[in-house]
Amino acid sequence: MRWALLTAGLLAAGCGGSTSAADFGEELFQDSRLSDSQFNSFSCATCHATTATPEAGHLRAGYSLHDVASRPSWWGGYETNLLDAVNFCYVNFMRGVSPLTQEDPKSRALYEYLVRISPDAQADALPLTVVKDIGDVPRGDKTRGAEVYRAACQTCHGETHTGKGRLTQLASLLPDITNEYDSVFPGVPHQLVVIEKVRHGQFFGVSGSMPLYSREALSDEDLGALLAYLGL
Ligand code: HEC
Ligand code: HEC
Repeated sequence: MRWALLTAGLLAAGCGGSTSAADFGEELFQDSRLSDSQFNSFSCATCHATTATPEAGHLRAGYSLHDVASRPSWWGGYETNLLDAVNFCYVNFMRGVSPLTQEDPKSRALYEYLVRISPDAQADALPLTVVKDIGDVPRGDKTRGAEVYRAACQTCHGETHTGKGRLTQLASLLPDITNEYDSVFPGVPHQLVVIEKVRHGQFFGVSGSMPLYSREALSDEDLGALLAYLGL
Protein backbone atom coordinates (compact mmCIF):
# COMPACT_ATOMS: atom_id res chain seq x y z
CA MET A 1 0.00 0.00 0.00
CA ARG A 2 1.41 3.37 -1.00
CA TRP A 3 0.58 5.09 2.26
CA ALA A 4 2.57 2.47 4.16
CA LEU A 5 5.57 2.67 1.83
CA LEU A 6 5.79 6.42 2.14
CA THR A 7 5.68 6.24 5.90
CA ALA A 8 8.36 3.58 5.96
CA GLY A 9 10.47 5.88 3.80
CA LEU A 10 9.93 8.71 6.25
CA LEU A 11 11.08 6.61 9.17
CA ALA A 12 14.07 5.26 7.26
CA ALA A 13 15.06 8.86 6.62
CA GLY A 14 15.42 9.16 10.37
CA CYS A 15 12.64 11.55 11.19
CA GLY A 16 12.69 10.78 14.92
CA GLY A 17 12.94 13.23 17.78
CA SER A 18 11.77 13.01 21.35
CA THR A 19 8.16 12.43 20.39
CA SER A 20 7.87 9.51 18.02
CA ALA A 21 5.60 9.75 15.01
CA ALA A 22 3.25 7.24 16.64
CA ASP A 23 3.00 9.33 19.81
CA PHE A 24 2.16 12.38 17.72
CA GLY A 25 -0.39 10.26 15.86
CA GLU A 26 -1.99 9.23 19.14
CA GLU A 27 -2.37 12.89 20.11
CA LEU A 28 -3.95 13.66 16.75
CA PHE A 29 -6.30 10.69 17.16
CA GLN A 30 -7.68 12.27 20.32
CA ASP A 31 -7.80 15.85 19.07
CA SER A 32 -10.71 17.39 17.16
CA ARG A 33 -8.30 20.02 15.80
CA LEU A 34 -6.97 17.37 13.42
CA SER A 35 -9.81 18.62 11.23
CA ASP A 36 -9.36 21.94 9.47
CA SER A 37 -13.03 22.84 10.05
CA GLN A 38 -13.92 25.17 12.91
CA PHE A 39 -17.34 23.50 13.10
CA ASN A 40 -15.93 20.09 13.92
CA SER A 41 -15.84 18.94 17.52
CA PHE A 42 -15.23 15.23 16.94
CA SER A 43 -11.93 13.43 17.22
CA CYS A 44 -11.30 9.91 15.96
CA ALA A 45 -11.61 8.81 19.61
CA THR A 46 -15.17 10.16 19.82
CA CYS A 47 -16.33 7.31 17.60
CA HIS A 48 -13.58 4.66 17.82
CA ALA A 49 -12.12 2.82 20.78
CA THR A 50 -8.67 1.28 20.35
CA THR A 51 -9.05 -1.61 22.77
CA ALA A 52 -8.80 -5.30 21.87
CA THR A 53 -11.87 -6.19 23.93
CA PRO A 54 -15.25 -4.38 23.96
CA GLU A 55 -15.36 -1.32 26.21
CA ALA A 56 -17.82 -1.24 29.07
CA GLY A 57 -20.44 1.50 28.95
CA HIS A 58 -19.95 2.59 25.35
CA LEU A 59 -21.75 1.73 22.12
CA ARG A 60 -19.74 3.65 19.56
CA ALA A 61 -20.79 4.02 15.94
CA GLY A 62 -17.35 2.96 14.68
CA TYR A 63 -15.45 -0.22 15.43
CA SER A 64 -12.45 -0.36 17.71
CA LEU A 65 -9.37 0.36 15.61
CA HIS A 66 -7.30 -2.28 17.39
CA ASP A 67 -5.61 -4.23 14.56
CA VAL A 68 -7.07 -1.86 11.98
CA ALA A 69 -3.88 -1.74 9.90
CA SER A 70 -3.86 -5.56 9.75
CA ARG A 71 -7.30 -5.79 8.14
CA PRO A 72 -7.36 -6.50 4.38
CA SER A 73 -10.23 -4.07 3.72
CA TRP A 74 -12.46 -1.61 5.53
CA TRP A 75 -15.98 -0.23 5.51
CA GLY A 76 -17.45 -3.67 4.90
CA GLY A 77 -15.07 -4.33 1.98
CA TYR A 78 -15.94 -1.07 0.26
CA GLU A 79 -12.53 0.53 0.96
CA THR A 80 -9.30 -1.29 0.09
CA ASN A 81 -6.97 1.58 0.98
CA LEU A 82 -6.60 2.52 4.65
CA LEU A 83 -6.11 6.22 4.00
CA ASP A 84 -9.34 6.29 1.98
CA ALA A 85 -11.12 4.51 4.83
CA VAL A 86 -9.87 7.18 7.26
CA ASN A 87 -10.71 10.00 4.86
CA PHE A 88 -14.29 8.83 4.62
CA CYS A 89 -14.60 9.72 8.32
CA TYR A 90 -12.43 12.79 8.05
CA VAL A 91 -14.49 14.36 5.28
CA ASN A 92 -17.99 13.17 6.18
CA PHE A 93 -17.94 13.26 9.96
CA MET A 94 -15.12 15.67 10.85
CA ARG A 95 -16.04 18.14 8.12
CA GLY A 96 -12.51 18.05 6.73
CA VAL A 97 -12.46 20.48 3.84
CA SER A 98 -9.96 18.49 1.81
CA PRO A 99 -8.97 14.85 2.47
CA LEU A 100 -5.74 14.01 4.28
CA THR A 101 -2.95 13.35 1.79
CA GLN A 102 -0.26 10.68 1.99
CA GLU A 103 2.44 13.37 2.18
CA ASP A 104 0.87 15.28 5.06
CA PRO A 105 3.02 14.75 8.20
CA LYS A 106 -0.21 14.51 10.21
CA SER A 107 -1.53 11.60 8.20
CA ARG A 108 1.86 9.87 8.36
CA ALA A 109 1.86 10.20 12.15
CA LEU A 110 -1.72 8.97 12.34
CA TYR A 111 -0.74 5.99 10.23
CA GLU A 112 2.17 5.16 12.55
CA TYR A 113 -0.23 5.22 15.48
CA LEU A 114 -2.71 2.94 13.69
CA VAL A 115 0.16 0.53 13.01
CA ARG A 116 1.17 0.62 16.67
CA ILE A 117 -2.35 -0.37 17.77
CA SER A 118 -2.28 -3.24 15.25
CA PRO A 119 -0.05 -5.83 16.97
CA ASP A 120 -1.29 -8.85 15.00
CA ALA A 121 0.13 -9.55 11.54
CA GLN A 122 -3.31 -10.34 10.14
CA ALA A 123 -6.84 -9.58 11.18
CA ASP A 124 -10.18 -10.25 9.54
CA ALA A 125 -12.15 -7.57 7.74
CA LEU A 126 -15.19 -6.60 9.78
CA PRO A 127 -18.78 -6.78 8.58
CA LEU A 128 -20.77 -3.60 8.05
CA THR A 129 -24.49 -3.83 7.44
CA VAL A 130 -25.96 -0.46 6.62
CA VAL A 131 -29.73 -0.60 7.03
CA LYS A 132 -31.10 0.55 3.70
CA ASP A 133 -34.84 0.49 4.10
CA ILE A 134 -35.99 2.44 7.09
CA GLY A 135 -38.93 0.88 8.89
CA ASP A 136 -40.29 0.98 12.41
CA VAL A 137 -38.90 -1.42 15.01
CA PRO A 138 -40.70 -3.01 17.99
CA ARG A 139 -40.42 -0.92 21.17
CA GLY A 140 -38.27 -2.44 23.89
CA ASP A 141 -37.53 -2.03 27.53
CA LYS A 142 -37.12 1.59 28.74
CA THR A 143 -34.49 0.73 31.32
CA ARG A 144 -32.35 -0.84 28.62
CA GLY A 145 -33.17 2.20 26.46
CA ALA A 146 -31.72 4.55 29.10
CA GLU A 147 -28.51 2.50 29.09
CA VAL A 148 -28.35 2.61 25.31
CA TYR A 149 -28.85 6.39 25.34
CA ARG A 150 -26.01 6.84 27.82
CA ALA A 151 -23.70 4.49 25.95
CA ALA A 152 -24.46 5.59 22.39
CA CYS A 153 -25.89 9.10 22.27
CA GLN A 154 -25.10 11.03 25.44
CA THR A 155 -21.45 11.82 24.68
CA CYS A 156 -22.52 14.03 21.80
CA HIS A 157 -26.11 14.99 22.67
CA GLY A 158 -25.77 15.38 26.44
CA GLU A 159 -28.62 14.59 28.80
CA THR A 160 -32.14 14.30 27.36
CA HIS A 161 -34.21 17.52 27.27
CA THR A 162 -31.41 19.79 28.55
CA GLY A 163 -28.41 18.69 26.51
CA LYS A 164 -26.31 19.06 29.67
CA GLY A 165 -22.73 17.95 28.99
CA ARG A 166 -23.14 17.72 25.21
CA LEU A 167 -20.03 17.75 23.06
CA THR A 168 -21.29 20.44 20.71
CA GLN A 169 -24.14 22.94 20.49
CA LEU A 170 -24.81 21.50 17.04
CA ALA A 171 -26.09 18.26 18.59
CA SER A 172 -29.84 18.77 18.97
CA LEU A 173 -31.79 18.28 22.19
CA LEU A 174 -33.33 14.83 22.27
CA PRO A 175 -36.13 14.00 22.08
CA ASP A 176 -37.46 17.60 22.15
CA ILE A 177 -36.25 18.38 18.62
CA THR A 178 -38.84 15.94 17.27
CA ASN A 179 -41.57 18.48 18.15
CA GLU A 180 -40.39 20.41 15.11
CA TYR A 181 -40.70 17.48 12.73
CA ASP A 182 -44.33 18.11 11.77
CA SER A 183 -43.25 21.25 9.95
CA VAL A 184 -39.86 20.01 8.72
CA PHE A 185 -40.95 16.51 7.65
CA PRO A 186 -44.73 16.80 7.24
CA GLY A 187 -46.52 13.46 7.22
CA VAL A 188 -43.49 11.41 8.33
CA PRO A 189 -43.95 9.74 11.74
CA HIS A 190 -41.41 11.20 14.19
CA GLN A 191 -39.86 7.88 15.11
CA LEU A 192 -39.10 7.16 11.45
CA VAL A 193 -37.19 10.42 11.17
CA VAL A 194 -35.11 9.46 14.21
CA ILE A 195 -34.52 5.93 12.89
CA GLU A 196 -33.47 7.37 9.53
CA LYS A 197 -31.00 9.68 11.26
CA VAL A 198 -29.51 6.94 13.44
CA ARG A 199 -29.24 4.39 10.62
CA HIS A 200 -27.91 6.76 7.93
CA GLY A 201 -26.41 9.64 9.89
CA GLN A 202 -28.22 11.91 7.48
CA PHE A 203 -31.82 12.74 6.65
CA PHE A 204 -32.91 11.08 3.46
CA GLY A 205 -29.47 11.53 1.93
CA VAL A 206 -29.09 15.17 2.98
CA SER A 207 -26.55 16.76 5.35
CA GLY A 208 -25.22 16.00 8.80
CA SER A 209 -22.00 15.07 10.51
CA MET A 210 -23.57 12.51 12.82
CA PRO A 211 -22.22 9.00 12.23
CA LEU A 212 -24.41 6.21 10.95
CA TYR A 213 -25.07 3.19 13.14
CA SER A 214 -24.83 -0.11 11.28
CA ARG A 215 -26.68 -3.18 12.49
CA GLU A 216 -23.42 -4.39 14.04
CA ALA A 217 -23.02 -1.13 15.99
CA LEU A 218 -26.63 -0.97 17.20
CA SER A 219 -29.15 -3.80 17.03
CA ASP A 220 -32.79 -3.15 16.18
CA GLU A 221 -33.57 -4.46 19.65
CA ASP A 222 -31.44 -1.75 21.30
CA LEU A 223 -32.83 0.85 18.90
CA GLY A 224 -36.37 -0.18 19.92
CA ALA A 225 -35.42 0.12 23.60
CA LEU A 226 -33.92 3.56 22.93
CA LEU A 227 -37.10 4.77 21.18
CA ALA A 228 -39.21 3.56 24.11
CA TYR A 229 -36.94 5.48 26.49
CA LEU A 230 -37.23 8.62 24.34
CA GLY A 231 -41.03 8.24 24.28
CA LEU A 232 -41.17 7.93 20.49
C1 HEC B 1 -18.42 10.76 14.08
C2 HEC B 1 -17.90 9.42 14.21
C3 HEC B 1 -16.58 9.08 13.56
C4 HEC B 1 -15.41 9.80 13.59
C5 HEC B 1 -15.17 11.16 14.21
C6 HEC B 1 -14.43 8.98 12.93
N1 HEC B 1 -14.99 7.81 12.50
FE1 HEC B 1 -14.04 6.31 11.57
N2 HEC B 1 -15.82 5.33 11.32
C7 HEC B 1 -17.02 5.73 11.85
C8 HEC B 1 -18.04 4.78 11.46
C9 HEC B 1 -19.51 4.85 11.84
C10 HEC B 1 -17.41 3.81 10.67
C11 HEC B 1 -18.08 2.57 10.02
C12 HEC B 1 -18.00 1.40 10.99
C13 HEC B 1 -16.60 0.87 11.05
O1 HEC B 1 -16.16 0.26 10.05
O2 HEC B 1 -15.89 1.09 12.07
C14 HEC B 1 -16.01 4.18 10.61
C15 HEC B 1 -15.01 3.45 9.96
C16 HEC B 1 -13.66 3.70 10.06
C17 HEC B 1 -12.64 2.85 9.53
C18 HEC B 1 -12.87 1.52 8.85
C19 HEC B 1 -12.83 0.42 9.92
C20 HEC B 1 -13.13 -0.96 9.35
O3 HEC B 1 -12.42 -1.91 9.69
O4 HEC B 1 -14.10 -1.08 8.59
C21 HEC B 1 -11.43 3.42 9.82
C22 HEC B 1 -10.06 2.90 9.46
C23 HEC B 1 -11.72 4.64 10.54
N3 HEC B 1 -13.08 4.78 10.66
C24 HEC B 1 -10.75 5.48 11.03
C25 HEC B 1 -11.02 6.72 11.60
C26 HEC B 1 -10.00 7.68 11.97
C27 HEC B 1 -8.51 7.45 11.90
C28 HEC B 1 -10.67 8.78 12.42
C29 HEC B 1 -10.08 10.12 12.79
C30 HEC B 1 -9.35 10.78 11.73
C31 HEC B 1 -12.09 8.49 12.36
N4 HEC B 1 -12.26 7.24 11.85
C32 HEC B 1 -13.10 9.36 12.76
C33 HEC B 1 -17.24 6.84 12.62
C34 HEC B 1 -16.31 7.84 12.88
C1 HEC C 1 -20.47 11.60 17.43
C2 HEC C 1 -21.53 12.45 17.96
C3 HEC C 1 -22.95 11.95 17.89
C4 HEC C 1 -23.45 10.76 18.34
C5 HEC C 1 -22.68 9.63 19.00
C6 HEC C 1 -24.86 10.80 18.13
N1 HEC C 1 -25.21 11.97 17.53
FE1 HEC C 1 -27.06 12.52 16.92
N2 HEC C 1 -26.31 14.23 16.14
C7 HEC C 1 -25.03 14.68 16.29
C8 HEC C 1 -24.90 16.00 15.68
C9 HEC C 1 -23.63 16.84 15.64
C10 HEC C 1 -26.15 16.32 15.16
C11 HEC C 1 -26.54 17.59 14.40
C12 HEC C 1 -25.86 17.59 13.05
C13 HEC C 1 -26.42 16.52 12.16
O1 HEC C 1 -27.61 16.57 11.87
O2 HEC C 1 -25.69 15.63 11.76
C14 HEC C 1 -27.02 15.18 15.46
C15 HEC C 1 -28.35 15.11 15.09
C16 HEC C 1 -29.22 14.13 15.52
C17 HEC C 1 -30.62 14.08 15.20
C18 HEC C 1 -31.36 15.09 14.34
C19 HEC C 1 -31.87 16.20 15.18
C20 HEC C 1 -32.47 17.29 14.34
O3 HEC C 1 -31.88 18.36 14.32
O4 HEC C 1 -33.51 17.05 13.72
C21 HEC C 1 -31.17 13.00 15.82
C22 HEC C 1 -32.61 12.55 15.79
C23 HEC C 1 -30.08 12.34 16.52
N3 HEC C 1 -28.93 13.05 16.31
C24 HEC C 1 -30.23 11.21 17.27
C25 HEC C 1 -29.16 10.51 17.84
C26 HEC C 1 -29.31 9.29 18.59
C27 HEC C 1 -30.63 8.64 18.93
C28 HEC C 1 -28.05 8.90 18.94
C29 HEC C 1 -27.63 7.64 19.68
C30 HEC C 1 -28.03 6.39 19.07
C31 HEC C 1 -27.12 9.87 18.40
N4 HEC C 1 -27.83 10.84 17.76
C32 HEC C 1 -25.74 9.80 18.51
C33 HEC C 1 -23.99 14.00 16.86
C34 HEC C 1 -24.07 12.71 17.39
